[in-house]
Amino acid sequence: ERYTYGMIGLGVMGRNLLYNIADNGFSIAGFDLDEEKVKSLHEGATSEMKVQGTASLEDFVSVLETPRKIILMVPAGKPVDAVLENIKPLLSEGDIVIDAGNSYFEDTNRRIADLASKNLHFMGMGVSGGEKGARTGPSIMPGGDQEAFHLLKPMLEAIAAKVDNEACTAYMGKGSAGNYVKMVHNGIEYAIMQLISEAYDLLKKGANLNNDQLYKVFREWNNGEMNSFLIEITRDIFQEKDSLTDQYLVDMILDKAGAKGTGKWTSEQAMEIGVSIPTIDIAVTSRILSAYKEERVQASQLYTEKEITAPENTELFIQEVGEALYLATLISYAQGLALLVKASEEYSFQIPLKDVVKIWRGGCIIRSVLLEKFYTAYSRNPDLSNILLDQDIAGLVKSKIKSLRKTAGFAASNGISSLGIQTALGYFDAYTTESLPVNLIQAQRDYFGAHTYQRTDREGVFHTSWKSENN
Ligand code: 6PG
Repeated sequence: ERYTYGMIGLGVMGRNLLYNIADNGFSIAGFDLDEEKVKSLHEGATSEMKVQGTASLEDFVSVLETPRKIILMVPAGKPVDAVLENIKPLLSEGDIVIDAGNSYFEDTNRRIADLASKNLHFMGMGVSGGEKGARTGPSIMPGGDQEAFHLLKPMLEAIAAKVDNEACTAYMGKGSAGNYVKMVHNGIEYAIMQLISEAYDLLKKGANLNNDQLYKVFREWNNGEMNSFLIEITRDIFQEKDSLTDQYLVDMILDKAGAKGTGKWTSEQAMEIGVSIPTIDIAVTSRILSAYKEERVQASQLYTEKEITAPENTELFIQEVGEALYLATLISYAQGLALLVKASEEYSFQIPLKDVVKIWRGGCIIRSVLLEKFYTAYSRNPDLSNILLDQDIAGLVKSKIKSLRKTAGFAASNGISSLGIQTALGYFDAYTTESLPVNLIQAQRDYFGAHTYQRTDREGVFHTSWKSENN
């Protein structure tokens, strides 16, 4: 018997994606270096599914229909290259390999070229939604080879999440655009998680809210205009009890955050191609700072002064923190989307921004009702360089900006760390300022290094012999 699809890598994500594909009526074979994972593949399958585990790469390749359509769900980096080295000699012209992991886009470019030299198609495809999403409907970001994409499209549309009956998958652009869009998705994910953690801190330390009260606040937020996956899971987290101690689990978790690299790549990329995404940068560096646990303990003892003045009106404070979180989140999306606009030019990806926000509306970690508004904005103007330049978005921003200022001010005056909130506000203020004080920086650069400057009143490049009081 032959199978239409193949999956290499039967870890949590690969396995769930495989079942999702099989659930939608496509036959699929699986392979993993770990024999146990192959053997247990049948356990999660229903009798209707056409699923087959294979014991060797040779068996795997031989049971697939041609052109073969092989999805890789293995950790990014060396494991992907290792699989490709092993499988290349077994493939035939026209076969398609789809990397569905969080691979670095430059690696994908290299692999596309390598496989193309053997007349094989290679595609980078972002998949978001975690374990559950993979099983029931993720957001899927394919890019690259158009021919291969069209062959896969019906399957991708069947397995993806749906919003208003539309599948959360679309062609994200040329080359490694699929991986790039997923990378930026993760950068935005980092920023939003940072902002939510700060809102939590402000409500907890600033207004003394306990976990029950926090649960109610997040429940209310999630029931309104802040409805989103990350707010929803945060709501649930405040209810979870620890099985070991019967305390709230969130209070038992050490305050050191891990990271696997996609956030860092987003920041590196933004620096590389010259895009300002400070809220994403700060989210990456905050996770780094969180790891200095011992130093933070030492420093907190050295600088104990933090007397917090509770807000006069708790209800109002909660509302303001909510609005601040909403707006800072919007600003984080704006930064990430602006990075995609620039990257699209820089790497000739031709990323359709309208489709990006459309397919992020469901299935992925950063899905939120806010994306509906971005979708409307890009539908009106697909070439919008920054979402903050849209009229309707501007109206929304104006309705919340006061709360963002008040919340940032409260955090600053009470010594509650709020790097994400401060940076979102700082970005907004800089972005919306007609004349920045950077004229002075240019003067300094020209003063000490003859780096030259441009003028406001005439064309050209100028240099001055600046007069010094010292000689
Ligand atoms: C998703 C997630 C997923 C994963 C990231 C983030 O969209 O489903 O983004 O890809 O959670 O790897 O991981 P780190 O926080 O560990 O960097």
